[in-house]
Amino acid sequence: MIKDWQSRFSDNLKEYGGYSIGKLFALLSDPEIISLAGGLPSPDMFLKDGMRTASKNRLQENIDTIMQYTNIKGESDLIKAVIKFLKRDNIAVSEENIVITSSGQHGLDILGRLFINPGDIVMIDRPTFAGAIVAFQLQRPEFIGIDMEEDGPNVRSYKKKIEELKNKKPKFMYVIPDFQNPSGITMSLKKREALLDISYEYDIPIIEDSPYRDLRYRGETIPSIYELDQKREGGHVIGLYTFSKLFCPGIRVGFNIGPKDVIARMTNIKEGNVLNTPKYNQDMCTAFLTEMDFEPHIEKCRNYYREKLNVFLQTMEKYFPPEMGVSWTKPEGGLFLWVTLPEHIDTYELFYEAMKFKVAFVPGNTFYGENPAKNHMRINFSFASKEQLAEAVKRLSECIKSKL
Ligand SMILES: Cc1ncc(COP(=O)(O)O)c(C=O)c1O
Repeated sequence: MIKDWQSRFSDNLKEYGGYSIGKLFALLSDPEIISLAGGLPSPDMFLKDGMRTASKNRLQENIDTIMQYTNIKGESDLIKAVIKFLKRDNIAVSEENIVITSSGQHGLDILGRLFINPGDIVMIDRPTFAGAIVAFQLQRPEFIGIDMEEDGPNVRSYKKKIEELKNKKPKFMYVIPDFQNPSGITMSLKKREALLDISYEYDIPIIEDSPYRDLRYRGETIPSIYELDQKREGGHVIGLYTFSKLFCPGIRVGFNIGPKDVIARMTNIKEGNVLNTPKYNQDMCTAFLTEMDFEPHIEKCRNYYREKLNVFLQTMEKYFPPEMGVSWTKPEGGLFLWVTLPEHIDTYELFYEAMKFKVAFVPGNTFYGENPAKNHMRINFSFASKEQLAEAVKRLSECIKSKL
């Protein structure tokens, strides 16, 4: 029997500890706990009848091809539907600019493999999506974090840090401009343009992750960085999308868009990991885009999540008076908001305390690629019911008061 496995693991994996929040999530099995921790869309918004009908029809019509291997880049019906879907957002792409992925997370993993050598610089927001950190971390980059402000990352700081690096050019800048996970912050038009200016000036690609873009509850839609880039020379942005939040996460399908050379290489990487995304899953997404009347569905999702967000924000006003020294973002969309506590409170420790109050959140330290801040928490407002959300805020307030 081989005893020493550790020394055999690849250098990329030796220092990789996996998702740090996995251990915390294991504590959430108590049904009394109201969890604001996960990033789950509500099953109330799942198109269950549409899925049943599409599934029945496709299995009747296409069982042979559904049960077979299929092409690696993605089903052409789905790619065509995606081209149409993006057109409504003023993005013009053709088939050579699209690869279907097995979810947004898969897209992130492929991009990490495509671009990062150990020690390469990757620029990310502070805080940013933990799943992206984990996906990129497997290639052992050095993260440079840029602080988030009310209207997106501090673009001046981007410029300053790039200048400081001198000849070491970052591989890419990873951003989530719309209702960012975890902060809920939306990047202003001015900052989107300024980030593109930096991309052009310093020749650094942008990865624009857009899982929540259609889930806007108030305010005006801001053009995507991809669209803004297409109005210039183009070819500076790789867009990352998923069906998880609008349709359902269980189906594990997403897509990336970008310059054709990048897409071709991404498809090569897919050859080496999942090969093809299951045809059945892709067909369900094609049905979502072509048969399930998705625009009214998205409008319904907006109304539903807006109400939950409002309940959450109103209850926060009531139970977190200014003297508590707690502040929080007021997102215009998405599924998350970001709470900042007085600096002496470490939210990782507070998580265990919150278990006693039967409420859960994700400690903010999870969302940093380097030098984590400790006094923040990510709140998800899409999954719990409105009643649970209001109760969770009360419990959180009591828990935090016990530490003031
Ligand atoms: C910013 C961001 N990117 C990507 C993903 C990945 O989503 P999925 O793998 O479900 O498509 C998520 C999921 O929460 C996310 O918040």
